[in-house]
Amino acid sequence: MKITKKENTKETWSNEDNKQYYENIPIEIFDKYTITGGFENGCDVDVIYNNYLRNAASIIDVGAGYGRVIKHLLDRGYSGKLMAIERSKNFYCSLYKKFSGRAKLFNCSVEDFKETKIANVALCMWSMLSEWPKDKQVEILKHITTFCKPGGIVILENISHLITPKNVNVYEQKLYKAKTEYGILCGYIASTEEINYYAKAIGITKTKHITYITLTGRERIIHVLWV
Ligand SMILES: C[S@@+](CC[C@H](N)C(=O)[O-])C[C@H]1O[C@@H](n2cnc3c(N)ncnc32)[C@H](O)[C@@H]1O
Repeated sequence: MKITKKENTKETWSNEDNKQYYENIPIEIFDKYTITGGFENGCDVDVIYNNYLRNAASIIDVGAGYGRVIKHLLDRGYSGKLMAIERSKNFYCSLYKKFSGRAKLFNCSVEDFKETKIANVALCMWSMLSEWPKDKQVEILKHITTFCKPGGIVILENISHLITPKNVNVYEQKLYKAKTEYGILCGYIASTEEINYYAKAIGITKTKHITYITLTGRERIIHVLWV
């Protein structure tokens, strides 16, 4: 999708506004975005697999979509406990068909998920944190940290805020907006400095930021936060 015109991206939006998009978009179409993004081969998972995932006893995939990350974890031989949260019924059905025998699945909003200290790693891949506006990101990140066992880690994967995301109409001041036939998708891409700021605000002292380049030459970043 081309950026066609400049629009006001400062209007208020919420995570709830993206819900319809994920209910309506056919999975085959959404899956094609992994090809334009250049991570259909799971290169995002490869960046962190050996150091943080392979030996983790349990992983919770937060906003798991249709199971892309779970598939890549299993393809790489992950043998620990798997859990996943996904709000979209559309994506959850696919997740359920493919992985209900292997992973414990929850069809609810992350915000309503109340189980605590259940995983060694909480994974938020493919710009999951961007699904919330800037002023809500610390709060949601803090909530996600409660899913982790003591000594656990939260992993946030994001596109670099320095490049324009594909398939959006507007990208301005780290805010993107895509008006599509399936619904509106808005997001806010936090910079590394902002992620560090969020971490500090919730008492996390150790972070690591790993930059990587996808198959289509897109710069993306994985933030590792020790809870
Ligand atoms: C860009 S997709 C990423 C999917 C998956 N993490 C991956 O890497 O393939 C974002 C996902 O987050 C889900 N999501 C957004 N807000 C959510 C919320 N409040 N609770 C649970 N899932 C949510 C969407 O339904 C969608 O599946």
